[in-house]
Amino acid sequence: MDDHTSLTRVDQDYELGLRPTRFEDYTGQEKVTERLQLMVEAAKGRGDPLDHVLLSGPPGLGKTTLAHILGEQMEVNVRTTSGPAVDKAADLAGLLTGLEKGDILFIDEIHRIPRAVEEYLYSAMEDYVIDILIDQGPNARSVRLNLPRFTLVGATTRMGLLTAPFRSRFGMTNRLDYYPPQDLQQIVFRSARILNVEIDAEGALQIASRSRGTPRIANNLLRWVRDYAQVKADNKISLEVADQALAMLEIDEQGLDEMDKRYLETLVHKFSGGPVGIRTLAVSVGEEAGTLEEVTEPYLIQEGYLNRTPQGRTATSRCYERFGRPSGSTQPDLL
Ligand SMILES: Nc1ncnc2c1ncn2[C@@H]1O[C@H](COP(=O)(O)OP(=O)(O)OP(=O)(O)O)[C@@H](O)[C@H]1O
Ligand SMILES: [Mg+2]
Repeated sequence: MDDHTSLTRVDQDYELGLRPTRFEDYTGQEKVTERLQLMVEAAKGRGDPLDHVLLSGPPGLGKTTLAHILGEQMEVNVRTTSGPAVDKAADLAGLLTGLEKGDILFIDEIHRIPRAVEEYLYSAMEDYVIDILIDQGPNARSVRLNLPRFTLVGATTRMGLLTAPFRSRFGMTNRLDYYPPQDLQQIVFRSARILNVEIDAEGALQIASRSRGTPRIANNLLRWVRDYAQVKADNKISLEVADQALAMLEIDEQGLDEMDKRYLETLVHKFSGGPVGIRTLAVSVGEEAGTLEEVTEPYLIQEGYLNRTPQGRTATSRCYERFGRPSGSTQPDLL
């Protein structure tokens, strides 16, 4: 996602500063955090490592943050890697044998692990062993390595790309949802405190409601509004200041990003509001169908811009209100 990859080094440091390290500071996602807290308490009570956990959901909703909170609560080390980085079984073996009992191995973008490496993970997760093939040809032999009992925490934006056998090896799967504005408002308050800027309730809510349900975006917008307030408004963020600052960024009032807008405009104007199949739409907007399904569409559906029907995607009346009617539309009264 753009909001992810366009983060500069400086922004990432900021992100670290704003990242909650305890459940108490992690706002929202109550069902997920309640389950995880219970799991932690039970595992600690027994003196066992935590069961493997899978976290899924769109970018910027707090998967990496949760993985680190789990490490903190379990009082264990968190080793971090990502799917594309473990492209050979030997890489994986190196990582796993370096763990201590109870440690968390956090694999981000876990759907991008090559299938061949994924299969090695099965025995590692289930039996804490890994069979590595050494040499090739006539000298080839397999060596079994015993592993410490570790916890795998996987994060993915693309749940649908994980195979069923892989998914079933996680003790618990948690899906993160977009945050309602009230939760994001709390997150903005907390971040403003850390950034040392004054903000009132309306200002915080304004930033929250333009953040596409996403804490990372809320924090990014807050940092911009903070800069604006510092230069133009005495370091105080009110509704008016937030409005002016966000207007300068040309931030969408409903929090839609570039891909959201391109998707909905294409649906309305190129395909007369649908129904149109996801593959056709994907080609038209230049994005993978799976990414649209798991990253772009959930927010648009939740916000009432889009319907998924058996015939394909269709625009809703809210979508028409925002993006106009298809030219040559013959049935405006039905909408
Ligand atoms: N529940 C939350 N409460 C407070 N802040 C949060 C919460 N969730 C996320 N954040 C903030 O949003 C930022 C982004 O979260 P995080 O990096 O955990 O997202 P992610 O789901 O791992 O995203 P990606 O899929 O892009 O890796 C964090 O640095 C943190 O500051
Ligand atoms: Mg992450």
